[in-house]
Amino acid sequence: MSNKIYSYGKQTIDSSDIEAVVEVLKSDWLTQGPDVAAFEQALCEKFGAKYATVVSNGTAALHLAALAMDWQPGDVVITTPLTFLASANSILYAGATPDFVDIDKKTYTISTALLKEKLAQYNKEGINVKAVVAVDYAGHPCDWQKLRELADEYGFQLVNDNCHAPGAEYNNDYNYAVKYADVVIQSFHPVKHITTGEGGAVLTNNKNIDKIIKTLRTHGMTKDPDLLEKNDGPWYYEMHRLGYNYRITDFQCALGLSQLGKLDGFVKRRREIALFYDEKFGSNENFIIPHVSVNVKHAYHLYPLQIKFENIIIKKSELFGKLKEKNIYGQVHYIPVHLQPYYRKKFGFEKGGFPVAEKFYEREISIPMYPSLTDADLNYIANVFLDLVK
Ligand SMILES: Cc1ncc(COP(=O)(O)O)c(C=O)c1O
Repeated sequence: MSNKIYSYGKQTIDSSDIEAVVEVLKSDWLTQGPDVAAFEQALCEKFGAKYATVVSNGTAALHLAALAMDWQPGDVVITTPLTFLASANSILYAGATPDFVDIDKKTYTISTALLKEKLAQYNKEGINVKAVVAVDYAGHPCDWQKLRELADEYGFQLVNDNCHAPGAEYNNDYNYAVKYADVVIQSFHPVKHITTGEGGAVLTNNKNIDKIIKTLRTHGMTKDPDLLEKNDGPWYYEMHRLGYNYRITDFQCALGLSQLGKLDGFVKRRREIALFYDEKFGSNENFIIPHVSVNVKHAYHLYPLQIKFENIIIKKSELFGKLKEKNIYGQVHYIPVHLQPYYRKKFGFEKGGFPVAEKFYEREISIPMYPSLTDADLNYIANVFLDLVK
């Protein structure tokens, strides 16, 4: 029995991260200072984006992206049912209408074949889909080439909810996210690859979208002389849109900067952990290990292990109880969003609507995946699973 506690994900913070934060705490700027712009610049360089705006969390990033892309009541926006609530909720924040397309059986990302069918159906009804929010689930990139083709053919905006996948590669391209999508969303929650405590970012190559997002982050205010209707003096500002306070602090950005330098090392360790689990579970018929497409390098935010509960005695909820006794706290990613009472009641989605995501939900457990797990930890975790899953 291990006396350590194993959650499915957690932050990796070292003394250099702490020093970076302390330095800002001793400075004149706790918020709206130089570290915000420095973190944005570093994100642009790391991910090949022209523009980045850092905000208070990934959900705020999604919200502002939806507003900046001008989603309106009556617009249809499609996403995957296999995601965190926030990807879909952003559609509702803008007053638009959400719809879902089921996941691909192998990659668990949005199925481009089913998306094509849905787009053709909407087209027949004379409805233009406004946008698609695709999610690089668990760290496996979507089929971005096909998504871009469909976006160009049908004229919808393409959002990459990339919260799970910084450090992933698609067709040997580290900077694929901004290349294919109009807008890219990141989260810096502690379970993610790099953290600022709470935090998020919007990356884009679109100057206009970036400008609007930067304004909306601070109450919709602007001091930009080119945008002002008049100018009473150096203090003068105008509000042009209804914005929010979605700012992130400088000490958080200092942490983000320090963490960003470690991203590739973190992803390397995550891949080693995945290889270890693949070897432990891959040959056991009770498990399905995560698939990795040949043109992809997975970033492994999660290690979504599927268990064929239909073939074994132990039930999923019982397994969770037994894991807890062994100090292993799994999680399930995700309860398909369309099955949430709010979505069922408000929009009429039903069980059976997106069967691949629903089947995946029945089988999936996210097992511990974070860089500080040692080989001994991994052996312990794998052996507990192999022992219980029968
Ligand atoms: C796919 C996805 N999108 C959006 C979010 C929202 O990010 P945050 O928790 O930073 O608001 C998350 C966070 O869990 C996520 O996993």
